[in-house]
Amino acid sequence: MAEPLLAVAGVTKDYGTAIVTRALRGIDFSVEPGEFLALTGPSGSGKSTLLNLIGLLDRPTSGRIAIRGTDTGSLDADGLARFRGRTIGFVFQFHHLLPAFSATENVLMPAFADLGRITEPMRARAESLLRSVGLGDRLDRKPSELSGGQQQRVAIARALMMEPALLLADEPTGNLDQESGEQVFQLLRRLNAEEGVTCAIVTHDDRLAVRCDRNIHLVDGLVDRDQRTPQPA
Ligand SMILES: Nc1ncnc2c1ncn2[C@@H]1O[C@H](COP(=O)(O)OP(=O)(O)OP(=O)(O)O)[C@@H](O)[C@H]1O
Ligand SMILES: [Mg+2]
Repeated sequence: MAEPLLAVAGVTKDYGTAIVTRALRGIDFSVEPGEFLALTGPSGSGKSTLLNLIGLLDRPTSGRIAIRGTDTGSLDADGLARFRGRTIGFVFQFHHLLPAFSATENVLMPAFADLGRITEPMRARAESLLRSVGLGDRLDRKPSELSGGQQQRVAIARALMMEPALLLADEPTGNLDQESGEQVFQLLRRLNAEEGVTCAIVTHDDRLAVRCDRNIHLVDGLVDRDQRTPQPA
């Protein structure tokens, strides 16, 4: 059998030293290429903590996270940052776009961070990504000149710039009205269906979770349920 895209084994996470919060208490699951999964659970159950660990923004207290067969615990800080930049796309609840830069320049930022320069093919890719998220007519706009939903779509295009193996999104629609949220969700579904982008999204919204193919539900730092979601034919 092919190795999973992501393997999480025995992962725990403690925060703090004097007063320790055990945010994750032993998480095990794996994700195959092309999956579209929802991470759900009550506030404080550990969803963002888990996403940050999978996204290599932080390291587990114990346990292993392997991505495409690479044991990420074996990488030093520089190696981890480089691996993250080339493997993971991250979309946050708040888009974290750079206000002084245009949509295209924001999308180019991960490539610039990786290579220290921008080439013409990169610029073409950034513009093509913006067109694919429906912003072909907004390439030169600053974030402040875009709506919340449009900003989030720029953030998704940015997350896809380096062709990540895994797209992670922490409440990508949490800060949007219903219609913009729906557009962003449909965009993620389309990228998954058409481009095969593997997605894991944290959501509070059960109606969104049932529209993902799989739902991992956390309670109190543990996987409470991990189930396939029956999709209408
Ligand atoms: N930087 C931190 N320092 C200390 N404790 C933290 C830190 N980040 C999170 N925690 C604690 O870890 C636990 C899990 O937090 P986490 O943010 O992962 O929850 P969550 O499921 O994402 O919640 P929400 O739905 O409210 O976003 C909580 O008890 C939280 O208080
Ligand atoms: Mg959270």
